[in-house]
Amino acid sequence: MTRILAINGSYRKNGVTDQVVGTMTEALKASGAEVEIVLLRNYPVEFCTNCRKCAQQPGDGPAECVLEDAMQDLIDKIEKSDGYILASPTNFGSVTALFKRFMERLVVYAYWPWDMNSPQYRKAKVPKKKTVLVSSSAAPGLMGRLFFSTLKELKTTAKMIGAAPVGTIFTGLIATAPHPVISEKVQAKARVLAAKLV
Ligand SMILES: Cc1cc2nc3c(=O)[nH]c(=O)nc-3n(C[C@H](O)[C@H](O)[C@H](O)COP(=O)(O)O)c2cc1C
Repeated sequence: MTRILAINGSYRKNGVTDQVVGTMTEALKASGAEVEIVLLRNYPVEFCTNCRKCAQQPGDGPAECVLEDAMQDLIDKIEKSDGYILASPTNFGSVTALFKRFMERLVVYAYWPWDMNSPQYRKAKVPKKKTVLVSSSAAPGLMGRLFFSTLKELKTTAKMIGAAPVGTIFTGLIATAPHPVISEKVQAKARVLAAKLV
């Protein structure tokens, strides 16, 4: 059975991100996949302290972090999953601070001894798992794709964990009501991309 992990960096319950991830989850489950959703807003992940102890450890898999929080559990979930949904709203032109905090902890996927100026990605040479990238914005979707860094950051996240995008959903013009509802068109795209993950 295909195991899909959704990592959601939205602050808002039932917001746009929750709805897109929810639609994809329903479609995935209907096609027989197992789905787990990690809501970063409920997940106790500390900030990376830049001690870089993890980055000194050689090897192809994620290294051990010295912090004792839920991140190790999340890394285990990442490792045992076959594919991912990586989702974050666009706040001030980028992923949310919540998503960025998680992203920085992915330094365990980098080999970066002190005498090297830049890191090597531990998963650079492994066959890539599939991922769909999800974001939204007040601005039109095309503008969001072109001018915000959100998708770039979601792509970097994918690269760190050894995944490659099979599609992106960037829902624009979706911030003119307190409780926006995603359109049929966005739901249809979410279902199409969910099918690409299995
Ligand atoms: C603090 C904050 C910053 C935001 N910054 C941007 C932005 O830079 N550009 C934009 O188009 N929309 C921006 N938005 C709108 C959100 O991207 C949009 O409402 C998104 O759909 C929220 O996702 P959610 O429903 O999952 O919370 C911002 C919203 C907030 C609250």
